[in-house]
Amino acid sequence: MRAIKSILISCFAVLLWSFTGSNTVQPQDWKAPAWADTLYNPYQIEPLTLPQAQEIYNTYCISCHGDQGQGYPIEHTSQEVPDFKDDAVASQSDGAIYWKIREGKGIMPSYKSKLSDEQKWQLVEYIRDLSKPFDLQKNPFKKLNN
Ligand code: HEC
Repeated sequence: MRAIKSILISCFAVLLWSFTGSNTVQPQDWKAPAWADTLYNPYQIEPLTLPQAQEIYNTYCISCHGDQGQGYPIEHTSQEVPDFKDDAVASQSDGAIYWKIREGKGIMPSYKSKLSDEQKWQLVEYIRDLSKPFDLQKNPFKKLNN
C-alpha cells in the first residue's frame, strides 16, 4: 500500500512539474535552408521603401513583434517572439530573413501569398533598419522607444 502511495505521489510530482512551465521554454533553432542565403533583394532601395514597409509592418507584424522589433510574450504558446536586435537574428543573411517571412512557423503565419515579393523584401530592409542604433536608422518616420 505504501509503495503504491509513493508511486502515485511521484507520478503527481512529475505531472505537476510538466505543467509548471520550467520545461516549456524551448531553444530557438529555426534555421533557414542554406540556399536561402543566396537570395538577394532584386528591388531598388528608394526613399519610400522604409515608410512603405513600416505601414505593412504596422498592419501585419507589430502585434507580435512590437514597434521596436522587441517582440511580445504571447500566451498559449511555447514559441517565443525573438528580438530583432539580437545577434541570433542580426547575424542571419537577408535571404534567410526573407525566407522566414515567406514561410512562417507555428503561430507566425506564412506571408507567401499575403504579401507581394517586393513587400517582403521591403520588410527585410525595415527589420535591418529597426535593428540599428536610433541615430543610424534611415527611416524618416522612425520612433524612439519611450
Ligand atoms: C502571431 C504572431 C506573429 C506575427 C503576426 C508575425 N510574427 Fe514573426 N515571428 C513570430 C514568432 C513566434 C517567431 C519565432 C518563431 C520560432 O522561431 O519559433 C517569429 C519569427 C520571425 C522571424 C525570424 C526571426 C529569427 O529568430 O530568425 C522574422 C524575420 C519574422 N518573424 C518577421 C515577421 C514579419 C516581417 C511579420 C509581418 C509580416 C511577422 N513576423 C508576423 C510571431 C509572429
